[in-house]
Parts: sequence; C-alpha cells; structure tokens
Amino acid sequence: MTFTVRRSPRRWGPLVAATLFALASAGHASPGSAAVDETQAQPELQTAADVTNADGLETLVSDYETRIPTEYTIDSWEPFAEALTAAADVVEDDSASESEVADAKTELQTAAEELEVLQSTFATITNNTFWKDTAGNPIYSQGGGVFKFGDTYYWYGVHYRGAESYLANPTKKYDDQVSFVSIPVYSSQDLVNWKFENDIATTSTSLGRLGGTMGDAGWIGRLGVAYNENTGKYVLPVQMWHPAHEGGVLFLQGNSPTGAFTFGNFQPQIVNSPTQATGDQTVFTDEDGQDYLIFSNSEGRARAFVSKLRSSDSLYAEPAVEIGRDSSGREGNAMFKLDGKYYMCASDLHGWNTSVNYCLDSTQDRIQGDYTDYYTMPGTQMDYSHVTQTGFFITVEGTVQDTVIYAGDRWADFAWNGIGYNQWVPITKEGTGIRFHSMSQWQFNATTGEFRVAPGNNYILNPDIQADRIIVSNVVGWTRTGSGGVTNVNGGANGSRFALQVSNGSGVRQQMQVPAGTYTLGLHTKGSGRVTVTGADGTVHTLNVSSSSGWTKRELTGIVLPAGTATVTVTGGSGNLIADQFSLVRQGGTDPGSATRHEAEGSGATCTGTIDANHTGYSGSGFCNGANADNAYAEFTVQASAAGTASLSLRYANGGTTGRPGDLIVNGSIVATTAFASTGSWTGWTTQSVTVQLRAGANTVRWDPTTADGLPNVDYLDVAQAAD
Ligand code: GCU
Ligand code: CA
Repeated sequence: MTFTVRRSPRRWGPLVAATLFALASAGHASPGSAAVDETQAQPELQTAADVTNADGLETLVSDYETRIPTEYTIDSWEPFAEALTAAADVVEDDSASESEVADAKTELQTAAEELEVLQSTFATITNNTFWKDTAGNPIYSQGGGVFKFGDTYYWYGVHYRGAESYLANPTKKYDDQVSFVSIPVYSSQDLVNWKFENDIATTSTSLGRLGGTMGDAGWIGRLGVAYNENTGKYVLPVQMWHPAHEGGVLFLQGNSPTGAFTFGNFQPQIVNSPTQATGDQTVFTDEDGQDYLIFSNSEGRARAFVSKLRSSDSLYAEPAVEIGRDSSGREGNAMFKLDGKYYMCASDLHGWNTSVNYCLDSTQDRIQGDYTDYYTMPGTQMDYSHVTQTGFFITVEGTVQDTVIYAGDRWADFAWNGIGYNQWVPITKEGTGIRFHSMSQWQFNATTGEFRVAPGNNYILNPDIQADRIIVSNVVGWTRTGSGGVTNVNGGANGSRFALQVSNGSGVRQQMQVPAGTYTLGLHTKGSGRVTVTGADGTVHTLNVSSSSGWTKRELTGIVLPAGTATVTVTGGSGNLIADQFSLVRQGGTDPGSATRHEAEGSGATCTGTIDANHTGYSGSGFCNGANADNAYAEFTVQASAAGTASLSLRYANGGTTGRPGDLIVNGSIVATTAFASTGSWTGWTTQSVTVQLRAGANTVRWDPTTADGLPNVDYLDVAQAAD
C-alpha cells in the first residue's frame, strides 16, 4: 500500500506532514510500510510476569484506607469496611490468583461507589477561565472523559503542546500544535476540585508489538477509560495515527486508575464502519458496567456507531451498530443516559470549533436499538454550546436528582474562540426532552445532583461575540433591531478576534431570564451609542455611550430588575458603536455559595416529633416528621457573623393534599407566615425561601404550624447571609 494521509488535512494535515518528516529524517519507521491488517489486530495480553494487578489493588486499598467512617452513613460504611478488609487480605496473600485480585478490586470499588456521605456542599464551576488543579497548575486535558471508579471521579484527556501556547496567549490561533505530550489523570470527589495524579502515558510509552513508542505517532487523541471486571484492569481506547500503521484505535491498559498504562492492542478497523479508524470517539459505560465505544467513521463522519468493548478484556471493539446518519457529517460524538434513555450528541464538522449540539435519543431504551433523527439540543443555539465543541458528558446520579454535565472543548487550534479549554454546563430533562443551561458560573452538589446559578454568573450569552467562527451580519444570540448594518468584522477589546459593530440608529438585542435583584451592566466600547436594560416590568435603564476612539470600559450600576425577562438593547450612535465583553451580573445580593446548611436531624435543631428516614430524597440522615398538631414546631439555632439580611431556605415535603401553614418566628417574633403548599408526595421535596433580619451571634429560627395538621416533613434549613 502506498502512503496516503487518510485523515482530513483540515485537522491533521500540517501536523502529520511535519511529524512524518521528522520521523523519516530520524530514521524511524518509513511511511511506506503497510497498515496493520485487521486480522492481525489480536490483543497482546501481558504475561503474568509483567502483570502487577496486585500492586494496582494495593494502591486502591491504601487510597480507600484514608476514608473517615464518621463522614458516611453507617449502613453504607459497613459493607465498604468489609470489602476493604477483604481486599487488604488479598493484597497480603502472595498466592492470590489473578481472578481473586480482580474480584477484590471489583468488590471494593462497588462498595465504595455505594458510600453515602453525610454532609454535602455546593462547589462553584467558573467557565471562561483556564482551570487549575488543586496544586495550582494548569489542567491540560483535551478530548477525554470523566469516569467514576468507586467513590472517585477520574478525568483523563490529552495534554497537547499547543495547550501551553494557548494558555500563554489565548488571543491567537495555533494551527499545528497538536503534538502529544502525555495523557494526564486527575481525581476528584466533587467534580470541581481536581488533583493531578499522574501522566499515565507519555511519548515514551511502548507500542508493544507495533514497535517504537507513542512518541512516534502523528496523532493521539479522543479517549476514555473502561474498567474490565473480568481482568480487573482499566482499559483506555484512544485514536492513534501512526506513519507505519495509519489510523486505528490504540488500547492501553493499567492496573490502577492512576498508574502507568501499557500497550494492550491496536485495532485499525471496526467491523461495519465503512472506513479504517474512527472519526471521533468517546467511551460510554452503562449502568450494568458494560462499556461501549461511541464513534463516527473517519472519512466524512456521516455515520454514528455504538460498538461494545469485548467483555473478556475490553481490548477490542466488537462489530459496530449504526445509530445515526447525517450526510453533512458529525463529530465530537459522545453519549449519556438520563432517565433510562440514551442520548448521543455531536457537533458540526468545524474542527474544534463552536457548534450547537446535534442529538438523537433511543426510542426503545436499548443502546444498540433504534434512535430518533438528529435534532438540536435546546439551549445550545444562543451561544453555540457556550462557545465550544461537544467533548463528553458526565452523568451524576444524585440523591435528589440526576444531572448530566456537558463538558465542552474550547481550543485555540482552528478556532481562537475565547478563554479556557473546558466549559462545563448542566443538562436536565425538560418536559419530554432535555435542556442545556448555558451559564458562565454555577454551583453543583455532586452528592445530591442539584445545581444553581452562582452569584458571579453573567446573564448575557455570547457576551464576547466569540461564538461565530466567521464574519457574519447576524451575530448568534443577538437579534437585529433595525435595518442598519451589524457585523462582527472588528477585532475585540482584549486582542480577541471579534467585536460587535452596530450602525447609527440600528442595533441588536438579547432577552434573558433573570431572578429579581440589583444588577450591573458592563461592556467595552469604541464609538458612540446607547445600551439599555429593560426589566420585566417595562422600566428602562439607559447607559449612554459617549464617543471614544480607543477601547473604553463602561458600566451602569444599580439596575433593579424584577424576576422575569430582561432585554439588553445595543444601539449605534453617529458613526458606529463597537462593543465587546458584555456582562450583566447581580450585585452583592445573597451568595448561595456561602449558605450554611442546618439539617433538621442535626444537633443544633429541635424537632417536635420524630426523626424519620422512610421517604427518600432527604439530605443527611433523615428529616423531621413533626407531630400532627398545632404548635408542633421545628427550630434551628443559626449563627450570624454580623447583623443584617439573610435568606432562609427551608426544604420540605408535604404529601398531604392541603397546605400546612406556619409562622416563622425569629428570636421570638413572628416575622412571616409560610404556606408550605402540597408537594404531591412525601418524596417530593421542595424549598421555600424567606428573607429575614438576623442579629450578630446566635439566633433562634422556629417554624410553628398554625393548623392541627402540623408542619410538612422538614429536611434542612439553608442560611445565606447578604454578601455586602
Ligand atoms: C404520613 C407520612 C409522614 C408524614 C405524615 C403527616 O404518615 O408518612 O412522613 O409526616 O403523613 O401527615 O404529617
Ligand atoms: Ca408529620
């Protein structure tokens, strides 16, 4: 076979050519060698001599030995402690067989996965920044995935050389810097704070029977990790393009999630795919532990496939089942499961550029069954999926709700679209479909699965005019208000690629849903014009922009908006108005991130009734089931650092058919009455919030029922003090 670059030159061309040249001149494998025949793609199982699966188990055991019993429910701790002891015994037993080691690993991880923490917190995810690990170093992770093994999330991806250049200067395009440095792994319990663990593969990782090392490859990218219950190993399929073997799936495997990974197999062709290698790919693990490769075919990328990883060792992708087809091609293929349904989403063929998400979902709840046609995921249109390409999804099964995290890839190569590689936003079910919640800052509770808007969120979408990858006259997310000119042809305020330009008298507007509060509008401008913010009540707040020739920062503070739809309108003055870096952010206000949770069953609380745990969905270890009687109150002692306003949020469930009203008594005085409407069932929990004044130090907060039904069941009280 004569050598041809079988990849789209759009992505790999310059790089592959450069690498081949370097390899050829260094005397490595010649580009003229034939590709590995598919029939030769048998796994190279390691021999017992170089297998240290027991070492992997030892690593897991010593990690799990750091868990503290009092942080978990007794019911979940006991089986975990047993599994840990059993696993430690296997580590000690030199005669333990490979399968005993694998079983001990599986049992330990399964018990760890069932651990239920007593306390949970919200942690803040801030997009449009470069994320750092817990040691303060940049997180370099592209085109990978997050996988939960035991009670821990592991994030695998690729560290490319260009990621360093992009971090150093994000306002520049890097076309050919996808040379592979390593595959790092990070670990986290909350999906927000990530600890760097190790580089599990590097340019010197051996390619086994293929000869040479991963440093010889012209492309390494798009990966995931599957745990194989049979071998007790972690298997990492990744795309490789190699000058001697061309494209295919390289399988690496490791004995612990964070140890060194070694060569397992190389599979150029997946049966039923029309082309060798994969276009894009990710790994999806179903609830039953079965792992799949989700991919598109390499040339054209028109077809989407699901291929089972062979259950004996996960080192081979079995014949693929086609689940979707679109002749325009789709890439960044990734899967998630929500409420029993499988969703596969993908992007346009823009090469690491912004795109809406095109999804299809299973119509028979079978992963390799029938799917709908492609449709656009609601919420991804206004800013092209928060200015990203589809990367991967993380499904979090919370104690309160299931939430899917969309992990988008933003990359300088071919794109040059803003700051930060990783943009994560939540996806939830909405009606019979799903919705993407584009937010610049939000808070997530990985235990309960709940999320909320964070205080620093910018309510304007596509605020930096970065989502369009080309010059346009209809800027995505913004609606034209006049017949005059609109363009993004100008460079932006911080040296970025685009800014908004509107001509005299005409302009654009954007509508958004905001909670009630006082807001600040900010933007950078050149030229003159006007920006208004109109609240849901019709009140117009105007920022007049006087002429300036250089970029000038403008701000309008004290914008009081009621809850509902707000409209931001940008109008050009004489000449044009050029504007960039829009923001509409709540001022001060209450920071839900600083809320202190008081469980109704906690030591500082009084429950006139019993602490029960028979209705699921509560946080902590139970809830207060107040006696069905007038005055059967629930009371909390709340510390305030200073006198001032606080938001009290009481979580409750009322399975009765009528409300259970009560007085809210703060420090002995009735300050409000609350309705506690029916929530439909005793497992239907909801939160009612009231704003009150607290004094510095200890406060008593009591809910006192005013009817013979008593209170609803009370889960917890969250107290957030005003930030100012
Ligand atoms: C049911 C329910 C209790 C609840 C009670 C009530 O018994 O199981 O959790 O507190 O109704 O009506 O108050
Ligand atoms: Ca009750």
